[in-house]
Amino acid sequence: MAGLPVIEPYLVRPRSEQARAEIDRIFFESSGTKTFASDDARAAFHDRWLGRYLAHDARHAFLAVVAPGSADETIAGYLVGSLDDPAQAARFDDLGYFKSVAALTARYPAQLHVNLAEAWRGKSVGRALVEAFCAHARAAGAPGVHVFTGRGMRNAGFYKAAGFREVGGVAWNGSEIVMLGRNLD
Ligand SMILES: CC(C)(COP(=O)(O)OP(=O)(O)OC[C@H]1O[C@@H](n2cnc3c(N)ncnc32)[C@H](O)[C@@H]1OP(=O)(O)O)[C@@H](O)C(=O)NCCC(=O)NCCS
Repeated sequence: MAGLPVIEPYLVRPRSEQARAEIDRIFFESSGTKTFASDDARAAFHDRWLGRYLAHDARHAFLAVVAPGSADETIAGYLVGSLDDPAQAARFDDLGYFKSVAALTARYPAQLHVNLAEAWRGKSVGRALVEAFCAHARAAGAPGVHVFTGRGMRNAGFYKAAGFREVGGVAWNGSEIVMLGRNLD
């Protein structure tokens, strides 16, 4: 068995096509949405939750890499995020709920999305990715970080263990999503 994954900034070295494909595979494997009305709908979903972060905010992304730089290199998981207040940044206008919690996104402007390959879950890799991002966001001056998740979702326990607490909630697409925030200052 290869050793534990190493947490690396996404931009620390060039990423191969294979690495990009592994990130995409982890994204779709981890997503609750499994079927799409069309290829365009699938591409839009990918862009909304992953692609645009790598396009505009790659400097805030981190990877958990097994055997980095070797022929056996694989991606165990990724974290993408942004430091900009999403209620103010036009590129997030498609997610209308940000504006309804603008007072909270001002307090917790950084945001993250973290996913691991199934084989690597439950081994503290997710925690390590979140800590790397939080240290990075803190160093850049972000006062807080938030995530949204569905009420009652299992991953809320993971975020609470990582120092997040519920700070708000909002209705979206017919169900309630919960905003979890963590102070960085
Ligand atoms: C959610 C996810 C990123 C967590 O990463 P992970 O590496 O599996 O979690 P860790 O092993 O780092 O867990 C860290 C802590 O959170 C706790 N934890 C993890 N998952 C939990 C859960 N579902 N409920 C309660 N606590 C949980 C662990 O017990 C651990 O606590 P400890 O440090 O006190 O022992 C990962 O499991 C994953 O990718 N899941 C599927 C996709 C997903 O839900 N992504 C998040 C989208 S918002």
